[in-house]
Amino acid sequence: MQEWYTAIQSADTIDKIEEVRLAIFGKKGIMAAEFARMKEVPDDQKGTFAKELNVHKEALNNLLLDRKLFLAMAHLEATMKLEALDVTLYSPTVERGSLHPVMETMDRIVEYFTTMNFAVHTGPMVEDDFHNFEALNLPKYHPARDMQDTFYFKDGSLLRTHTSPVQIRTMMNTQPPIRMIAPGSVFRRDYDITHTPMFHQVEGLVVEEEGKVSFANLKFILEDFLKTMFGEVEVRFRPSFFPFTEPSAEVDISCIFCAGSGCRVCSKTGWLEVLGCGIVDPNVFKAVGYEKVSGYAFGLGVERFAMLIHRIGDLRSLFEGDVRLLEQFR
Ligand code: DAH
Repeated sequence: MQEWYTAIQSADTIDKIEEVRLAIFGKKGIMAAEFARMKEVPDDQKGTFAKELNVHKEALNNLLLDRKLFLAMAHLEATMKLEALDVTLYSPTVERGSLHPVMETMDRIVEYFTTMNFAVHTGPMVEDDFHNFEALNLPKYHPARDMQDTFYFKDGSLLRTHTSPVQIRTMMNTQPPIRMIAPGSVFRRDYDITHTPMFHQVEGLVVEEEGKVSFANLKFILEDFLKTMFGEVEVRFRPSFFPFTEPSAEVDISCIFCAGSGCRVCSKTGWLEVLGCGIVDPNVFKAVGYEKVSGYAFGLGVERFAMLIHRIGDLRSLFEGDVRLLEQFR
């Protein structure tokens, strides 16, 4: 019997212990064989024989269970060690990108106007003189062309200086009523802390049957828009001039940095100019062949909005591609 105790003790895997278990307690195991030997034992010794055998049976069984538990625990521990995660181990982190502040501002502007039922139209960046100037009531040699230093190609085409040509294209391709905005990049020969050769504008145009829209509608929507973008600000309309609108106005908000008391950003005026607008000039409608309509238009610079919202001092920093700038907007 003693060798079976040793066999259990020296089984060192779960498989081996199972083998030993079968060899002892299986149908053809030694326990069965021992009990079968009972027949041969003389009657007066049968009692002691059976008692002894039962003592072994129980002892072996207990030892077997203990050993099995021990091996199972050892196995578990070994696998845990093997699969352990070292949480202190270095792993390269994945950087999350962010929207460029100009694009994020553009998205907010577009979202406001689409919510107000404006359709979004786009046009080409390489334009011709007719769409960029002529049809917008800016005939050749008109002094107002100087306001927009233009990049020309040799063939006379040009990089659009504003998004207003999209007004012209939309009016020529569709019929009123029109309620649209045109977001996009525009180009001018300019470079200083508030000007870059490429920047972004959003143009707006509403055209209805004659008499159905007025300056009051324009004033309402722009005031609501500016309050959505900048919060509770004062909005002021100042008479101005644009060739494509008559009357025209420039729109100011009360300075968001000093609440109107006068600071460096607003040049001590208390006001910040944010967009241009007006009632569409009859000459523009004439150029696209529209009759008996009225409408309003507006145009704004997206960078100007982004600079004010995010308090960015130098416009050029928006286009230098320095990730440290972008990281501030995550
Ligand atoms: N196109 C003008 C510019 O680039 C902006 C503008 C002003 C657009 C007034 C308009 C408007 O439609 O009514 O400076």
